[in-house]
Amino acid sequence: MENDTDPTRRYQDQLATLRRSNQDHVLRWWPELSDDQQKTLLRQLESVPWPVLDRLIPTHVLATPQQGTPADIRPPVVHPKSPSPSEATVYDDARQTGRDLLRAGKVAAFTVAGGQGTRLGFDGPKGALAVTPVGDHSLFEIFAETIKEARRRYDAPIPWYIMTSPANHGQTLDFLKQHDFFALPETDVIFFSQGMLPALDFEGRLLLEEKGSLALAPDGHGGSLTALVRNGALEDMRSRGVEIISYFQIDNPLVKPFDPLFLGLHAQTGSEMSIKVTRKADDLERVGNVCVCDGKVTVIEYSDFPDEFAHARNPDGTRKFDAGNLAIHLLSVDFVDRVVGQSFQLPFRRANKKVAFVDRRGEAVAPDKPNAVKLETFIFDVLPLADNPMVLEVDRAEEFSPVKNLTGVDSLDSSRRDQIARACRWLEAAGVDVPRTQEGQPDVTLCIAPGFALDAEDIRARKANLPRLHPGASLYIE
Ligand code: UD1
Repeated sequence: MENDTDPTRRYQDQLATLRRSNQDHVLRWWPELSDDQQKTLLRQLESVPWPVLDRLIPTHVLATPQQGTPADIRPPVVHPKSPSPSEATVYDDARQTGRDLLRAGKVAAFTVAGGQGTRLGFDGPKGALAVTPVGDHSLFEIFAETIKEARRRYDAPIPWYIMTSPANHGQTLDFLKQHDFFALPETDVIFFSQGMLPALDFEGRLLLEEKGSLALAPDGHGGSLTALVRNGALEDMRSRGVEIISYFQIDNPLVKPFDPLFLGLHAQTGSEMSIKVTRKADDLERVGNVCVCDGKVTVIEYSDFPDEFAHARNPDGTRKFDAGNLAIHLLSVDFVDRVVGQSFQLPFRRANKKVAFVDRRGEAVAPDKPNAVKLETFIFDVLPLADNPMVLEVDRAEEFSPVKNLTGVDSLDSSRRDQIARACRWLEAAGVDVPRTQEGQPDVTLCIAPGFALDAEDIRARKANLPRLHPGASLYIE
């Protein structure tokens, strides 16, 4: 909403605030800005949370915050991916509960897509990236198709909330509109933007992206909690009867957002926030480490995880801290309401980044090394506040192959390979012949549309509709 206070007065207010914080250099070009530029800059300045910044500059910008090692750190209690015979009934019951929750319309999908995707170098929202090995289907399309299939299967109007950032909101909305929301009802796809924070130079001074605009960056996926409330999304969920938020990142095409077992265990254990983990690929894999710190389930990011813990072994030689964060969560609507209502504050993290800026002579500078600090909060830092957090181990090959880089680990290449491998495994589990090379690699380029199957079980029922697979074939099964 436009602020209708007199602009001169607003300018004076901001000038006073900026002087107090020693940041008035950002108004250096004010006299030469157009009316529109002045309005933009005023709006940006008015949205800066000064008390937070003033507090963080000495600790997080002028200094690098040290992540203390908790006095008591242990591996978490994990629900195993394969239950013991005595747990099998618990898992069966949980699956039933999960399906009931889905049927009752109590589950919403929530994708965080506000990141800048800098590592991928893709010009556009990451969700628009074509990631399938066949057919060039985008991440957004895969998720939309998954939701459509779950809506059909559970006969429930599962809504989809998508968090963007002001930097990619318009492009994201345009992309979904161009594709007619992939045939989901428009009213069930709800977009909102996360908050932004100013980028600061290493002296703690705000940077200008242009003479009339601050350099701003998304405030991290931890910002999704306040953004859900501030934008009315949580209220919207309540009005639809949603009780559980199925949270996932934009980068993982293998995610199973409507996993009855995960939902059922979350409900049956009275968990307010649940997390999926997988065994780590190696001691130093770049995933968060799920631990219990001073009695609370906590994620310690790989970059903060002390080597002695990363390499620690159990007496039998297995890795002691082996629960890697997949960034797949369930959050109860009541929990989000409660923590945001208590004006909680997640810890801020510092990231050094390259940020283009206008220097004091008014010239644009594109730095070739990090010159600025971005401040972010992380969603998993809310876990220690949750009652009865539940941790479920899953099979990485079934549910996790994120696209973070162009090549190498966690890349478009590796994810496409993993999508093919999963499709082939599902087919073979249903008794379908899949051509393989002498080395045992799939000799087909395959992709299974979510509308055809959401898991291996579904293939069995639809086997008769499958064509014969010839070596070298390239096929999108839908
Ligand atoms: C993340 C986790 C890591 C986990 C891994 C699994 C963090 C800090 N680490 O790493 O523990 O093991 O995923 O894949 O999250 N996003 C926003 N707004 C923001 C920032 C990010 O919506 O302000 C979204 C991105 O669009 C993306 C997701 O959050 O969907 C992940 O962000 P990213 O910074 O890439 O985290 P990772 O390094 O992938």
